[in-house]
Amino acid sequence: MQQKRIAVMVSGGGSNLQAIIDAIDSGYIKGCRIAIVISNKAGVFALERARGAGIPGCVITPAEFKDKHEYNRHLLKVLKENDIDYIVLAGYLSILAPEIVDAYRYKIINIHPSLIPSFCGMGFYGSRVHKAVLDYGVKLTGATVHFVDEQADTGPIILQQAVEVQEGDTVDTLSKRVLEVEHKLLPLAVKLLVEGRLKVDGRWVSITKKEE
Ligand code: GAR
Repeated sequence: MQQKRIAVMVSGGGSNLQAIIDAIDSGYIKGCRIAIVISNKAGVFALERARGAGIPGCVITPAEFKDKHEYNRHLLKVLKENDIDYIVLAGYLSILAPEIVDAYRYKIINIHPSLIPSFCGMGFYGSRVHKAVLDYGVKLTGATVHFVDEQADTGPIILQQAVEVQEGDTVDTLSKRVLEVEHKLLPLAVKLLVEGRLKVDGRWVSITKKEE
């Protein structure tokens, strides 16, 4: 079977990108390769990680384009030129345009550092999520991998795992524990996606058994 080609989209440190790279290298995820890493910010460490792994990286920033429409048109062109089968948003802190979501329906997944539908949507990203969790005083947070639809963090949920908030937690200590969970959840979701084991029925995503 032909290898699936994945685009990983990033905006920052890329520890989730690294988790996917490691999972492919170790053979945990089979049948695919990361064909390109796309960042919407220049100079981020995720691009270093891509270079270190011999994966082509590119920076496509909205500022280079006349408007949002042109930016998205270019993004879609790059995805098509690279024959991308699946897109993984791994700390990509922007919303994908409807034309991209539509072109890759149920082929785009995102990791979010909370238990959706709590602490998600517009304005909730990165450390802001953990700050909001601590400010609210909830005892449980976690990580969610979901399919991407046209709105922020609203697509069908694939995997979730809870993380307990501990007495005295700071944004740093909490985000570290949530990231540890993310680094397991995202590679598992990529594996299931590439193996064709995710079936969407309305809001519900079933995980089918691996074919022997
Ligand atoms: C991760 O915690 C990810 O869940 C979050 O950004 C961080 C990126 O870390 N994403 C969002 O908040 C999306 N709404 P990384 O660059 O080290 O993978």
